Amino acid sequence: MYDQHSHRKDEHVFLAEKFYQAQPDNGLAEVRLIPNNLPEISVAKVNLTSTLAGKKIAAPFFINAMSGGSPETAKLNQKLAVAAAATNIPMATGSQSIALKFPQAAASFKIVRQNLPNGLVIGNIGASHNLADARAAVEMLQADLLEVHLNAAQEIVMAEGDRQFYWEENLQQIISGLSVPVIVKEVGFGISPATLERLQKIGVKNVDLSGHGGTNFAKIENQRRRAKDFSLLNNFGLTTAETLLASQHFANSFSFTASGGIRDALDIVKCLVLGADNVGIAGLFLHTLIKKDVAGLINLIEDLKKQLKSIFALLGCANPTELQQVPYLLSTDLNNFKQQIKFK
Ligand code: FNR
Repeated sequence: MYDQHSHRKDEHVFLAEKFYQAQPDNGLAEVRLIPNNLPEISVAKVNLTSTLAGKKIAAPFFINAMSGGSPETAKLNQKLAVAAAATNIPMATGSQSIALKFPQAAASFKIVRQNLPNGLVIGNIGASHNLADARAAVEMLQADLLEVHLNAAQEIVMAEGDRQFYWEENLQQIISGLSVPVIVKEVGFGISPATLERLQKIGVKNVDLSGHGGTNFAKIENQRRRAKDFSLLNNFGLTTAETLLASQHFANSFSFTASGGIRDALDIVKCLVLGADNVGIAGLFLHTLIKKDVAGLINLIEDLKKQLKSIFALLGCANPTELQQVPYLLSTDLNNFKQQIKFK
C-alpha cells in the first residue's frame, strides 16, 4: 500500500517535468503594464519585503508545495530546502497525507525543517483531513504555516482518487483550532469568487488562488490512467490572470497568493499589480532543480530578486504595496471575463 502511494509522488514529479514545456497559458500575457517614464527612484531604494499569511518575507515569492513521500522526493525536498535556506525564501512541502497514514514517510518531509532550520516552512494537507491531522502535520515539520489544498478536479481525474468531497466542516475546524495560520489553496484549477465567499464565511484569511496555466494536474492524472481516457478536463478552471481579477472584489477580506505557471520576474510583478501579496512557484523551480541542480536553482532565485528590483524601479515603485497602484490594460477576452464574473 505504502509503495503505491509513494510511487504516485514520483510519477507526479516525472510527469510535471515531462509536460513542463507544454504548459498552458496563464493569461498574464494578456495583462500589459503601462510605463512610468519619470520613475523618480533608484533600484537600490527598492525593498522587496512582503508578507505571507501574516509572516514577513524578504522577497514576494516562495517555493510552493511539490515534494515528499518517497525516497526520490525526499532528495528533492532536501535540495529545495537548501536552496530556500541559501536565498531566504519560504518553502512548502508536498502533501503530508502519506506520512499521516504511513509513518515511514515522515522523514521525507522532516528533511525540509532539518535543512531550513530558521526559515519559514509551510506544511501541506488536503481538506479531507480533520483538525487532529492538521495539528500532526504542523508538528511533523514544526511548520510556521499550513497549506490546505482543495483539489477536487485532480481527484476526479485520478483513477484512484477521492469521490467524496465533504470538506467545509474540516476546513472550518482547522481554521478555528490550529495554532498556526492557514493558507487555503488550489492545485492549478483556480479558486472562484463563489468559493471565496464561502471561505470568507468560515474565517479563512489567506488564499493561494493557484490558477490554470502551469503544472496541469488534469493532464498529469489522465496520463497516469491506464486507458488515458479522461482528457476532457485538460483545460478546466480559471487561469492565473482570471483568478486574480476575480479576487479583486475580495481585496479587503483576504491576503492573496498568486500561483499557476509563474515563469519569470515579469509574471511575478503582474500578479502583485493585480493584487497578490506574494507568488508561489512550483513547476519552474522543479524544472530548474532537475536541469541545473541546487546551484542553478539558487542562481535563478537570486536573478528573480534582482530582476524584480529592476522592474519595480522601472515602474516607480519602492515596494510591493506601491505596485498595486500601477495602471494596466487587459486584452478584450480578459476584460470580458472581468465584466462577466459575478459576485453576490
Ligand atoms: C504540486 N502541487 C501540489 N500542491 C499541493 O497543495 N499539494 C501537493 O502535494 C502538490 N504536489 C505537487 C507535485 C508536483 C510535482 C507539482 C509540480 C505541483 C501543486 C503546486 O503547489 C501548485 O499549486 C501548482 O503546481 C501550480 O503552480 P506551478 O507548478 O504552475 O508553478
